[in-house]
Amino acid sequence: MNDKINSVAVLGAGTMGAGIAALAADQGCKVLLLDINDEAASKGKNAMTADRNPLLKDLSKIENVKIGNFNDNFSDINQYDWICEVVVERLDIKRQIFENIEKYRKDGSVVSSNTSGIPLRDITENMSDRLLKDVCITHFFNPVKIMKLCEVIPGEKTLEVNLNKLKVFISDILGKGVVNAKDTVNFIGNRIGCYWMLKGLHEGKNAREEGISQEISDALMSRPMGLPPTGLYGLIDLIGLDVMYSVGKNLSINLPKDDDGLKYVNLPDEEQKLYDNGQLGRKTGGGFYRIQKLDNGDKLKEVYDLGSGDWREARKIDMEKDLNVILEDSNYGLYSWKVMGSTLMYAADLIPEIADDIVNVDRAMKWGFAWAKGPFEMIDELGPFKCIEKCKKLGSVPKMLQILEGSGEKSFYTDDGKFMDISGTYKKISD
Ligand SMILES: NC(=O)c1ccc[n+]([C@@H]2O[C@H](COP(=O)([O-])OP(=O)(O)OC[C@H]3O[C@@H](n4cnc5c(N)ncnc54)[C@H](O)[C@@H]3O)[C@@H](O)[C@H]2O)c1
Repeated sequence: MNDKINSVAVLGAGTMGAGIAALAADQGCKVLLLDINDEAASKGKNAMTADRNPLLKDLSKIENVKIGNFNDNFSDINQYDWICEVVVERLDIKRQIFENIEKYRKDGSVVSSNTSGIPLRDITENMSDRLLKDVCITHFFNPVKIMKLCEVIPGEKTLEVNLNKLKVFISDILGKGVVNAKDTVNFIGNRIGCYWMLKGLHEGKNAREEGISQEISDALMSRPMGLPPTGLYGLIDLIGLDVMYSVGKNLSINLPKDDDGLKYVNLPDEEQKLYDNGQLGRKTGGGFYRIQKLDNGDKLKEVYDLGSGDWREARKIDMEKDLNVILEDSNYGLYSWKVMGSTLMYAADLIPEIADDIVNVDRAMKWGFAWAKGPFEMIDELGPFKCIEKCKKLGSVPKMLQILEGSGEKSFYTDDGKFMDISGTYKKISD
């Protein structure tokens, strides 16, 4: 049995499949890229050397990539050490691909799915023990070439030795940051990130009535929080309201019954109307924002004002605030607490449900969502005891903050590289 991975078969040559295949080819691995037909596979291969934004860093590495289709070339996967399934997000299709993987793969190969939200136990239900000991989820983030995060999620029977072989390959060869997640809905990054986005949409109406326009909201939910400049509405424009709609449906089925996120799984009325009208975001020429080309060649940024239901020129906002606005007693402060503060508290309540420790949560948000700091680093900056005090006034204190309070310590991290674990004691942070 190979103790190292040298070759990868990627099944599905779309956005993510082509990205993962290019990542491995760039590092000199032999790559097989398959899709439903040769045309779909060629499209993925062409994206690797495209004139604009090629997926490969070194275009000559295209020689490492062989393509084919599921009908004629499936059995070729028996030459490859890691089989990575990256087809459309549909349980029935993924299960069918997995059945074929199991039929053809060689002993000792590892198998993963790149699903963004389907539980591994559903994909592998009733499959053989031979597969179950070699299988996991590898959740890369888009664009694969740029985003550092890969969440790795084992199944109940996955052997540690096989999981480690894949984790070492992903970190040491592919150069990604591995985060250990669990087989829970949306794993870590999307569980917290989608709560932030959906809660943000739901707070929008009250915020508008308080004079906080979408532009002000995005100005608050970006630099002051250490988040990317798109803010909240701008990020949803990038992702697409259709994706947010499906994410909400998946959460409504799979979130635990007492999860606070269940209150926000449906789009608010105004956003639902946009969804119904096909105004989904950048992919449809505009969602919450759009860029208009003027007759004189200039560009005009417009915002779709959810209050008036019409387009108007977007205002530039100079936002002077920093993270501490979250605890301010002002309308900006109350809004920031309701959106960002509540997201931090949500994250602080999800250990050990979604991750064993705070380090994996913080890394997921920094590496997958480009947050400058993770939730627990932000709570440390705000002052954990100020947050505890606020939570007590509001009703309940999240689990990790209770643990911190009970420990007698003052922060989640120490200056000498330690973090607070679930027992309330400090442990060294590993690489
Ligand atoms: N796009 C993202 O931002 C993102 C991020 C993380 C994970 N994911 C996950 O990665 C997986 C792939 O997503 P994507 O964005 O690359 O999608 P995509 O639509 O770009 O590619 C999907 C591929 O699946 C193939 N396919 C379609 N129908 C099929 C069928 N019946 N049988 C087999 N293959 C079929 C398509 O030809 C296509 O090449 C999904 O599970 C998705 O949830 C996506």
